Amino acid sequence: MNILHIDSAITGDASVTRQLTAEITARLTAANPSAKVTYRDLNKGVTPIDTEWFAAIRVGTENPTPEQERHIRVSDQLLAEVQDADTLVIGLPVYNFTLPAQLKNWLDQIARAGVSFRYTAEGPEGLLTGKRAIIAYAAAGTPFGSDLDHASGYVRHMLGFLGITDVTFVPADGLAMDRDAGLARAQAALENIAA
Ligand SMILES: Cc1cc2nc3c(=O)[nH]c(=O)nc-3n(C[C@H](O)[C@H](O)[C@H](O)COP(=O)(O)O)c2cc1C
Repeated sequence: MNILHIDSAITGDASVTRQLTAEITARLTAANPSAKVTYRDLNKGVTPIDTEWFAAIRVGTENPTPEQERHIRVSDQLLAEVQDADTLVIGLPVYNFTLPAQLKNWLDQIARAGVSFRYTAEGPEGLLTGKRAIIAYAAAGTPFGSDLDHASGYVRHMLGFLGITDVTFVPADGLAMDRDAGLARAQAALENIAA
């Protein structure tokens, strides 16, 4: 088992999602002691896509500039980490009703036409198949799956678009109202995850 453990929270040691992703990863590795874990902390920075990225990755060039080479290196590395993984454990804190920008930047970096998805006569086809994702969601007041939750549905959709359709959420919501109840809900979901 190859696990890709991804955090994106800005809240350091106080982070609920960081605690949950660590617990999920620990459960998986306890049940699969030979599992390899790759850790990626998106809070340390993920280059946003821009005009140079588009030229280098989407258009493609024979003679990339140093800036374009940097984009290719970053995107290739982030994508290789996903390609190598069979299980993704992702921290999804809700900030301003949606996902953190660094998690969006990561999705932008790994969504590559012809590599992680392609268009066929029948429509789009995700190419990152045979993987599952376990996502730790945390929110102070935005109920998981509600109309105000512009995070979980989007992340589920993007992963599905890339071929990762086996997605399980571990939701810790309502933390501002009743923190213990929110954490207990997440704990119950966590214990139901097949290791
Ligand atoms: C910048 C910022 C924006 C936030 N926006 C929301 C929000 O829109 N809805 C919500 O329910 N909670 C919001 N929160 C609270 C977080 O979702 C909550 O603290 C949760 O635990 C975040 O996960 P983390 O602990 O891993 O950072 C926000 C927190 C921060 C720091």
